[in-house]
Amino acid sequence: MQILVTGGAGYIGSHTCICLLEQGHDVIVIDNLSNSHQQALSRVEKITGKKLTFYQEDILHQTVLERIFNTHTIDAVIHFAGLKAVGESTQIPLQYYHNNITGSLVLLEVMQQYQVKNLVFSSSATVYGDPKQLPITEDFPTSANNPYGRSKLLIEEVCRDIYHADPLWNIALLRYFNPIGAHHSGQIGEDPQGIPNNLLPYIAQVAVGKRESLSIFGNDYATCDGTGVRDYIHVMDLAEGHSKALDKLQTQPGLVVYNLGTGKGYSVLEVLHAFEQVAKKAIPYHIVARRAGDIAACYADPHLAKKELGWIAKRDLHDMVSDTWHWQIHNPQGYI
Ligand code: NAD
Ligand code: UFG
Repeated sequence: MQILVTGGAGYIGSHTCICLLEQGHDVIVIDNLSNSHQQALSRVEKITGKKLTFYQEDILHQTVLERIFNTHTIDAVIHFAGLKAVGESTQIPLQYYHNNITGSLVLLEVMQQYQVKNLVFSSSATVYGDPKQLPITEDFPTSANNPYGRSKLLIEEVCRDIYHADPLWNIALLRYFNPIGAHHSGQIGEDPQGIPNNLLPYIAQVAVGKRESLSIFGNDYATCDGTGVRDYIHVMDLAEGHSKALDKLQTQPGLVVYNLGTGKGYSVLEVLHAFEQVAKKAIPYHIVARRAGDIAACYADPHLAKKELGWIAKRDLHDMVSDTWHWQIHNPQGYI
């Protein structure tokens, strides 16, 4: 199939491109490189020994998308492009709404125009808000308390409306839990700009000596050791989930929603200690106040994806932290 991957140079997109190329798909990437580097795509080609087509363009530009859809006979779109920092979204909400929501609307409009009705969309566990119970199943109530989360919820709703208006659409809404790790080669990985917001890149940068100490946001949660618990999932497992979702779309399922998580939760301290074992060094940390908007614990019930996609996360916490470390030590400054 010819797959258009929006945001394909980014963290999850680049790892997914590897899976798609390895499965023999033709991959067309559109990315404005606002949060990524073209080098990630050169490395994807190096790892797979296959070529992809890259457009350094913005999904907000309808004429550009039309040109791409005119040039290629696209069978399906995987839509990663978006801004993703929760804290930043509260500071510059309009940019988040414009980029994430308007960008998705433009893309969906062009898809409709060209009768391309197969879509995999990057949603997030953030749409579950502060869940009343755990593990989280796909039918849990959804909510959002920041512009980023609201943008994801709204795009999900837009997809539902499109499907209800025209049941020929096939849409997979994938709700990711916490993606971490890197390709086993150490060639591609997560390369955040500036100070990392997320736990793993922060730990990795402390371990490599780029930052002094990890701030742990609260140790008074009702969890095993007081620190926040999350369902960390290896980015290559997540990438494989996208291939399985594409397979599912071929069966014309209509609109489907899947959690992509492992079903296991780990605390901040558990992740930190796992990293220390792999890096064979102590990682300095200190406890600070809770981060606004954080919840105590969040982990998936991944059974629906297992049943309907035949997908299961295969890599464990050790794989996740050792692949993160491998990427970090080989690329201490990220892609440069
Ligand atoms: P990322 O920032 O690494 O990748 C997103 C890519 O989209 C970047 O390469 C960026 O340059 C590109 N982009 C942004 N706006 C664009 C635009 N208007 N036109 C063209 N390209 C544009 O982020 P990621 O971690 O790979 O996340 C991918 C998707 O998954 C995002 O939609 C994100 O919200 C979602 N998601 C991520 C996480 C996570 O923790 N990483 C969790 C849940 C959901
Ligand atoms: N944490 C720290 N110190 C840090 C960074 C994080 O203690 O420097 C803690 C957080 O308090 C939390 C855990 O580590 O308990 C994980 O935090 P992350 O920022 O890595 O991830 P979040 O669960 O807050 O959010 C991530 C993405 C969201 C996405 C969500 C669910 O950033 O976009 O997972 O998929 F919505």
